[in-house]
Amino acid sequence: MFSLKQNVSLKPYNTFGIDVKANFFADIYTVDDLMKLFTNSAIEGKKLLILGGGSNMLFTEDFDGVVVKLSIPGISYTTQGDEIIVTAGAGVVWNDLVTFCVNNGFAGLENLTLIPGTVGASPIQNIGAYGVELKDVFLSCEAFEIATLKTKMFSFEDCKFGYRDSVFKNDLKGKYIITQVSFRLTKIANLQTHYGAITAELTNRNIITPNIADVSAVVAAIRVSKLPDPSTIGNAGSFFKNPVITEAQFQELIQKFPDIVNYPVQNGVKLAAGWLIEQCGFKGKVVGNTGTWKNQALVLVNHGNASGQEVYSFSEQIINSVHTKFGVTLEREVNIL
Ligand code: FAD
Ligand code: EPU
Repeated sequence: MFSLKQNVSLKPYNTFGIDVKANFFADIYTVDDLMKLFTNSAIEGKKLLILGGGSNMLFTEDFDGVVVKLSIPGISYTTQGDEIIVTAGAGVVWNDLVTFCVNNGFAGLENLTLIPGTVGASPIQNIGAYGVELKDVFLSCEAFEIATLKTKMFSFEDCKFGYRDSVFKNDLKGKYIITQVSFRLTKIANLQTHYGAITAELTNRNIITPNIADVSAVVAAIRVSKLPDPSTIGNAGSFFKNPVITEAQFQELIQKFPDIVNYPVQNGVKLAAGWLIEQCGFKGKVVGNTGTWKNQALVLVNHGNASGQEVYSFSEQIINSVHTKFGVTLEREVNIL
């Protein structure tokens, strides 16, 4: 049963472990809870923050408004031949859904093993890892429109997915709350093992014909070796996006930096932000209570009692250094509040 709490610490609700407070906090379990919340006069005119697992957030100050935490549960599926349509509530922990699918032999989510956060947030930035993005398996999502208190279905086309991007971060920002997501999976696995680290780890394990569970296990092992576990060290994964630059700009850069890590993409060349940051001398650097992770310079961490402001200032320093050295402007992936 939903309740509206006041003056709530958000420390347990963000993986950076930043200690700020929210004026109001509502845990939402059903669409009906959303109706009740948005017809409650106590919150009229207040600022809103939709929250899943808080794994892509940096709080820099107290939140003077209502935090709407999505906890809608439930996983169900239907089978049509070799195709499985899986639907999960916005509050389902992303990796619980992955585990459910892997255990049932439903292929499609295995490369996205161990990404933190919730199902409801997964379309927002079109989560991706190890050669697969949410858009590759997304069928549709249901979302609650705050202005009309009505739910609406969004198709693949409606969502306008891009690299770490969707319509929900642009034209529809702040207008909808995703309540459930449906995925198109398959019993006939078309496993994506082309990502270098996956190939290497499969070889290392002497696995020649991997199955869904093998790919999931290998992805989990790679992630654990590279990324800090938020339960022991606060972080929000990659702090910046990998920048995409024009072919012309890339040709200039590669003359000066022949080792620059790059990937050709449709609209130019994508650079590895982690490499750029490492080249500026930041990898594993500790600055006060913050710094970058020793195995992955793209991940900013909270070494203890960092404030959001401290992490944010450090990220400014990184942006400036990378810009000075390479003429490339890094854009934050993490949502700053
Ligand atoms: P939150 O951080 O709570 O919210 C993120 C954004 O979505 C906010 O703007 C919020 O307002 C909005 N939002 C949340 N739920 C809803 C909803 N139901 N309806 C509408 N808006 C909503 N990301 C990747 O893509 N790939 C990775 O490999 C990856 N690795 C990570 C590794 C670590 C260690 C960490 C800490 C993070 C990583 N991330 C990665 C980032 C993060 O896990 C994803 O962005 C995830 O989808 C965030 O989910 P969340 O529920 O925590 O969202
Ligand atoms: N690199 C360095 N130094 C570093 C980090 C990376 O030189 O400190 C270089 C290496 O050459 C490495 C390359 O960068 O081979 C790429 O690194 P990695 O494979 O770790 O991936 P990434 O580009 O840094 C992206 C996503 C991750 C996702 C991984 C795996 C973004 C912003 N990040 O990271 O997503 O898990 O690929 O697919 O696209 C996230 O979004 O939070 C996230 C963790």
